[in-house]
Amino acid sequence: MKFFVDTADLDEITKLNDVGLVDGVTTNPSLIAKTGRDFVSTVKEICDLIDGPVSAEVTATDYDGMIKEGRKLAKIADNVTVKVPLTENGIKACKTLSDEGTMVNVTLCFSAAQAILAAKAGATFISPFVGRLDDLSLDGLQLIEDIVNIYGNYEFDTQVLVASVRSPLHIVESGKLGADVITAPPKAIWQMFKHPLTDKGLEDFLADWKKTGQSIL
Ligand code: E4P
Repeated sequence: MKFFVDTADLDEITKLNDVGLVDGVTTNPSLIAKTGRDFVSTVKEICDLIDGPVSAEVTATDYDGMIKEGRKLAKIADNVTVKVPLTENGIKACKTLSDEGTMVNVTLCFSAAQAILAAKAGATFISPFVGRLDDLSLDGLQLIEDIVNIYGNYEFDTQVLVASVRSPLHIVESGKLGADVITAPPKAIWQMFKHPLTDKGLEDFLADWKKTGQSIL
């Protein structure tokens, strides 16, 4: 299971990367806006820091515009993944860019039908948004199960990248379902470390060790 971090904040990416937990990064226009920084130079800095795929999203909505933007973004670094929305033009652009050898992440996927279109268009990643479906009382993880099953039936190469992750539970359940990748905000990844029994157990071990008066070094 690969871990992508869903942020454009370089400090946050660096902190997680230092622990060896970052296999890739996803950004979107909202995350870029949150940094207040220049888009292209931010993507370049992230690509220099991380070996894995770094998603950078087009903002054009017409096919020609998506292709122009996608080609420009793809030139930033070898590990750029061009993100396109799951629209008719987005799927057409996905096919063209994928055929050119560019990694493509098809985003804003909310149904299995949409996921099939992305796989048919040769997407490297499909990004189903679990959190936003849950927000509407729909079952985000059921969508992941459906896509994993459908892709498995046809051995599509497209990787299921679980997006809009809100909690460690989303990550664990995605793992149970066999999703290839999760992209999560840093907070959700850090929360995975937490367990009160770990804290209590360590406290007890250290207290008992102190009683022995020994030192390992
Ligand atoms: C990732 O590619 C998506 O842009 C992201 O996961 C969306 O998450 P949100 O629903 O928390 O905004």
